[in-house]
Amino acid sequence: MRRSRLTFAALAATAALVFSHVALAAGGGGYVEHSGVNTRDVAAAQRGAKIFVNYCLSCHSASYMRYNRLAEDLGLSEEMVMQNLMFSDAKIGDTMDIAMPAAKAEEWFGKAPPDLSLIARSRGVDWLYSYMKGFYRDETGGWNNLLLPNAAMPHVLWQLQGIQEPLYHTVHGEDVIEKLVLVEPGEQTEDEYAHTVRDLVTFLDYLSEPSKLKRKSVGIWVMLFLAFFAFLTYLLKAEYWRDVH
Ligand code: HEC
Repeated sequence: MRRSRLTFAALAATAALVFSHVALAAGGGGYVEHSGVNTRDVAAAQRGAKIFVNYCLSCHSASYMRYNRLAEDLGLSEEMVMQNLMFSDAKIGDTMDIAMPAAKAEEWFGKAPPDLSLIARSRGVDWLYSYMKGFYRDETGGWNNLLLPNAAMPHVLWQLQGIQEPLYHTVHGEDVIEKLVLVEPGEQTEDEYAHTVRDLVTFLDYLSEPSKLKRKSVGIWVMLFLAFFAFLTYLLKAEYWRDVH
């Protein structure tokens, strides 16, 4: 009796572990959209890395990541990384830092662009996806963002996405943004841009937990082992109780 209760407890704990991940991913606020990011999509992470170094690394560092680790994890040769992903005089063993000193950045933007190494963990992939789709031109003519009102960051991908402006509706006498409307098309269609952002966020997700690519496949073996072990325990129980009866 007690042994089967233990087996049950172990199974319940395993199930709880699996579902807690799903529950965490489900949280989110008003303008947050589901990103559909697949952490194990290495090709998407490779494309995202390219977007990151081209559009983000000028202001944001990713100082927990080294270029050679990037090469290894994403299945790229060091030459490929050096030719396609490195523009500064950085060396292959260096971390992904920026040349701009933080103090200067603060002076220019009023706020220092944060290091993005762990951003996917603190904000979540859906938030990041929505953030990169949530830039709009506000009444001042400047950039604003649905997810981060009055963000100090300009819309660096506007040439790809185009320019969005807000459409308001009134709730309890207050103007609230209902949605954003594309007023000037960019180089990409809406679908293509969503794809671009998903790739970028896949990379940011990888960045925040580089071992995730490996850990997930280990996880499957752990689950199989647990199932097998529960089965063994059950056989043992049957064996013990046969003598008792
Ligand atoms: C021109 C400089 C610049 C570039 C280029 C840039 N950013 Fe930013 N970014 C900023 C600044 C400044 C902030 C701080 C915004 C604030 O807090 O108001 C910021 C904030 C952010 C945040 C929000 C952090 C948080 O949790 O508050 C994210 C996410 C982000 N940037 C992602 C990106 C990505 C992804 C790219 C590349 C596609 C990028 N940024 C390119 C300047 C830049």
